[in-house]
Amino acid sequence: MMSGGLNVITLPQIPSGKLSTEVEFKARPSSPVAPSPSAEGTIGEAIKPPVYAQEQHSTWAELFKRQSALLQGRVCAEYLAGRTFLNYPADRVPTLAELSAGLKTATGWQIIRVEGYVPENIFFKLLANKCFPCTDFIRHPTELEYTPAPDMFHDLMGHLPLITNPRFASFFHAYGLAGYAATTEEQVAWLGRIYWFTVEFGLMNPNAHNPSKRRGQETTIYGAGIVSSVGEITHSLSDVVKKEPFNPHVLANRVFDIHHMQDTLFEIASFDELESEFRKWASDKGLLV
Ligand SMILES: [Fe+2]
Repeated sequence: MMSGGLNVITLPQIPSGKLSTEVEFKARPSSPVAPSPSAEGTIGEAIKPPVYAQEQHSTWAELFKRQSALLQGRVCAEYLAGRTFLNYPADRVPTLAELSAGLKTATGWQIIRVEGYVPENIFFKLLANKCFPCTDFIRHPTELEYTPAPDMFHDLMGHLPLITNPRFASFFHAYGLAGYAATTEEQVAWLGRIYWFTVEFGLMNPNAHNPSKRRGQETTIYGAGIVSSVGEITHSLSDVVKKEPFNPHVLANRVFDIHHMQDTLFEIASFDELESEFRKWASDKGLLV
């Protein structure tokens, strides 16, 4: 799919109301919305940015400032290293092309521009090809604290930093391959739950599996849904949220509610564990060789 120098993938028409692993519905975009000059499915440095209004640059700058103030001591070191590496602008909306170039240098992944919804089968296929789908619209200024569905701040500031980490990127690739191999609704549902409790709402604690040594103060965040939401950053680390050790067999069967904050989240000890345990689980289920 990605060979032969192609820089555009044709995405099929996305059925309305379709539930997706990555997004359920679209955030309310800020206005005015300039049409993107690049077609959905354009990849990497070929993606041309829309012309953003000053209000949209200001929304980015405000989100960036608020997030920066909260990160230290709360977010895992790998996320911070990725954020530094990608060198995000603080005062303007970044372009997908510039961030895709950084990602490619780090781990060989690229960004593919999408409008919003990405059905599971396409999403898995993109990850299996080391392409991460990103939108290029930013949320409305009334949704600075929380947006019910991902905008570009979520995609770019939530997801991309970790994809610069070789171990996380390797897990993410394996996840895409497993999803691409899934053939039943049950398998897709397992993968959706694992995604939710790791990629979106995952926590890390070096003693996650050692209750006698575990200290709550050592818990850090890596999930994109938390990292990109100022309100979620402090909530997820509070005692209101119960923490359980990561176990893919448990996660695969834990039902979540997308519309409410979670009362339980899962801690990995490291990205080494995330990758190796996921690979074991996926081969157990016949989804990965
Ligand atoms: Fe996400």
